[in-house]
Amino acid sequence: MQHLVDTNDLSDKQIQNIIKDAKRFKKQMPNALLRDKLLITLFFESSTRTRSSFEVAAKRLGASVVHLDPSKSSTNKGESLSDTFANLCAMEPDGVIIRHEYNNTPQKLADKGLTTVINAGAGSYAHPTQALLDYFTMLEQFGDVRGKTIAIVGDIISSRVASSGIRLFKRMGMNIVLVAPKPFMPDMDLPKYEKLDDIIDSVDVIMSLRAQLERHKAPIFEDYDEYAKEYCITKERMKDRDILLLHPGPVMRNIDISNEMLEDNRCKVLEQVKNGVFVRMAILKCLLLDS
Ligand code: NCD
Repeated sequence: MQHLVDTNDLSDKQIQNIIKDAKRFKKQMPNALLRDKLLITLFFESSTRTRSSFEVAAKRLGASVVHLDPSKSSTNKGESLSDTFANLCAMEPDGVIIRHEYNNTPQKLADKGLTTVINAGAGSYAHPTQALLDYFTMLEQFGDVRGKTIAIVGDIISSRVASSGIRLFKRMGMNIVLVAPKPFMPDMDLPKYEKLDDIIDSVDVIMSLRAQLERHKAPIFEDYDEYAKEYCITKERMKDRDILLLHPGPVMRNIDISNEMLEDNRCKVLEQVKNGVFVRMAILKCLLLDS
């Protein structure tokens, strides 16, 4: 039984196959490869893109999907997550797709060996399907990402997108630089900058991140317009540089990225969402069919 807690659960060969399949699926929708499969989605945190993307991906492959809304589930009546999970597994799904606020929840559930566990975002630790779709989006642009430099900009310390991305992009031979104000900067052995303008001439990709206000114990900035002056990706800052602009969403307009840059051809935010479906289709195929 294979799980996806983070991308290091996948071999190089599996990642190559996922990318190849996603590319193929984007050209032409495949047959209902997962016709007999049943997946359960269990999201303990809000989600727009990831949950619907998994559901669309599963349905495009002919799988059935059941969603359990935790706010209306028995975890609300005092049942432990572990018991809720065991009960769902008694219905014999082929996989459970889980999002949770704790870093180690997907691994804990995977260790029970009851069904395939797919991490759809855990705490600030990992969001492997987002990392893979971001990698796919960069590959589409560059063909090969080795030696390319990505600047990750914003609330890096709270971001599971950044943590999973950093591990995967490093593995794929990219250079990574971190750009953030001190309270958002993680303690990582990577080049760090407080100002994007100091490094912008050397980057091929900017990944902008949302300030994860819901994860801050106390407000970090009083005024996000002040923060935006330094970190918002605007046309004035980008000029006509040939830089790919990514963001995992949700985008805080004019704080993370300006309205104008969201309309710019270099901004791939909606292409990332589109690619997310094909990449998740390929991931489900890999995990559930072992192919
Ligand atoms: C992110 C998440 O929830 O980790 N979004 C996503 O899944 N595409 C990032 C965020 O909430 O800012």
